[in-house]
Amino acid sequence: MTFEYASAPESTSVVKIKPEYGLFINGKFLPAKGGKVFSTINPATEAHLSKVAFAAPSDVDKAVAAARTAYSKVWSKMPAAERGKYLFRIARILQERAREFAVLETMDNGKPIRETRDTDIPLAAAHFFYHAGWADKLEHAGVGTAPKPHGVVGQIIPWNFPLLMLSWKIAPALATGNTVVLKPAETTPLTALLFAEVCQQAGLPAGVVNIVTGDGSTGAAIVNHPGIDKIAFTGSTDVGKGIARAIAGSKKSATLELGGKGANIVFEDAPIDETVEGIITGIFFNQGHVCCAGSRLLVQENIHDELMAKLKARISKIRVGDPLDKNTDLGAINSSAQLEKIRELTASGVEEGAEQWSPSCNLPSKGFWFPPTVFTGVTQAHKIAREEIFGPVLSVLTFRTPQEAIEKANNTPFGLSAGIWTDKGSRILWTAKHLKAGVIWANTFNKFDPASPFGGYKESGWGREGGRHGLAAYLKGGH
Ligand code: NAI
Ligand code: MG
Repeated sequence: MTFEYASAPESTSVVKIKPEYGLFINGKFLPAKGGKVFSTINPATEAHLSKVAFAAPSDVDKAVAAARTAYSKVWSKMPAAERGKYLFRIARILQERAREFAVLETMDNGKPIRETRDTDIPLAAAHFFYHAGWADKLEHAGVGTAPKPHGVVGQIIPWNFPLLMLSWKIAPALATGNTVVLKPAETTPLTALLFAEVCQQAGLPAGVVNIVTGDGSTGAAIVNHPGIDKIAFTGSTDVGKGIARAIAGSKKSATLELGGKGANIVFEDAPIDETVEGIITGIFFNQGHVCCAGSRLLVQENIHDELMAKLKARISKIRVGDPLDKNTDLGAINSSAQLEKIRELTASGVEEGAEQWSPSCNLPSKGFWFPPTVFTGVTQAHKIAREEIFGPVLSVLTFRTPQEAIEKANNTPFGLSAGIWTDKGSRILWTAKHLKAGVIWANTFNKFDPASPFGGYKESGWGREGGRHGLAAYLKGGH
């Protein structure tokens, strides 16, 4: 007998989406120059959600001017303990309004409510709590005895963890005494605009946080603005390289958190059932729209067949569909453009001779969907082993010796994350020592904590976010 899940949709009544949103500048919502707007949709249904102001360079000017005035007149003069109180207040409001944020994030982004409810929003609040505590203790952060903020920080974030990436950016910037101009991604602006309301609710002084919505041209206007002292960017490696070129020779400092092609390495002595769960978390969490995803599975050859059989059986149980349903594991792909990219890269996998497998699943007829997918017989030369797919697609390679695992794992232009699965502590330490990756998980994957620095080597970016290292990036002399 088979049992079916009854549908368990989360109600959307807690969310009040306005028909139109302005730019959040100097504590108020304002229309963009000329009244230009763009639409944001729900990628699971393609339903229109709201119209959002499209900021022109002159709007960015206004936001930077507001941030500068707030910095010099209010925020830099305020005792650090007082700054910390605002951050504690924001953290508490995020907790109080967690359900509203979780539902809105799921609607605008397409990720499952289980993840927004249990991961994105709690971690966003945790980032504010963690950094609130640092605000009046910065002289103990290891960046000198009287660390100073940069001033006005420009922050550009992607669509994969909209509110969480906002928190990674805004919490440390404010705790260290900077003011900010932040641009959310064009497909996911709504939780940033709700956060702007939280800033009003918390009584945050006007101009300390400014939120400008728009596309890459708005982002470029922030990067190139002479009134910006530091840039913090998370997104594609191509745009990150462009930002590095644009600020070269200027006094602006930057942190860049870019792409990845994380190796998840499974040794023959790994606890197999736990490993299967870790592989699933590594690649199917957030539809695989994760820079640190474990997208390259490296399996010791003698356990390949056993592991693949168990993995495929487990993947067949993944529930794909309505992101608002509490039983859903895999939600919608964030945009038609991202779906197109995933399709192109998986097509190249087939063309180059790898073997594609997906369980049978009924995908909704509207919206952007891609089934959980595994490629076996992948070699290092294949495009699907080298390029970031940023989707629910796992590439499986094999190795015979630990040395070969290291060589394959490090054979990538990226260096963001890696995973190690083994029963032996000594092997964890040996492997971690030889991996060139900023974040390494052992017998777990995709675990995040505000106290733990996050960032990469090589084309995965510059600098670290989170922990003391992340604070340093927002203080002069830190980076
Ligand atoms: P993207 O890098 O174009 O977008 C990220 C942010 O940068 C958005 O807010 C965007 O408006 C802004 N932006 C775009 N062009 C800019 C410019 N010239 N100057 C300043 N800001 C600019 O990434 P996209 O096109 O959404 O995704 C493409 C690929 O990038 C994905 O398939 C994935 O492989 C990778 N990616 C990696 C992320 C990560 O977390 N490291 C996040 C998002 C995408
Ligand atoms: Mg959207």
